Amino acid sequence: MPVLFLLAAMANGLAASPVLAQSAAADGQKLAFDRGKGNCLTCHVIKGGDLPGTIGPELKDIQAKYPDRNELVAILFDETRRNPQTMMPPFGRNRILTEQEISAIVDFLQTL
Ligand code: HEC
Repeated sequence: MPVLFLLAAMANGLAASPVLAQSAAADGQKLAFDRGKGNCLTCHVIKGGDLPGTIGPELKDIQAKYPDRNELVAILFDETRRNPQTMMPPFGRNRILTEQEISAIVDFLQTL
């Protein structure tokens, strides 16, 4: 039985597994709210987060606004490419967050 389960999981493609996607989003929320990591609440109101700042826009309806996840990865990697004047730190370029951490946060953003 466990072997069958493993084969089924492999056939489905692990990345597409809803359980894994859910846990990536949960990790992403932790990273986003962690004051020593994403620290997104300093500037953004985000559902479920305490004491947000309002320098940036509220992060909501993200899936509708950015249906392409690559756009979100780009915003997190280096928002100065879209807006050289932005207050938002270039999390990828400055290596505040790794690629995997950015990907997990994007999974979380897509739940908002
Ligand atoms: C120092 C303030 C600051 C921090 C910290 C910050 N942002 Fe931003 N963010 C902004 C500002 C300001 C904008 C508005 C767009 C611009 O300036 O280019 C923005 C825009 C965005 C957008 C586009 C929103 C939209 O409605 O178009 C997303 C998504 C986003 N930020 C996600 C994040 C995430 C996720 C984090 C944490 C990893 C984060 N931001 C951290 C200031 C910040």
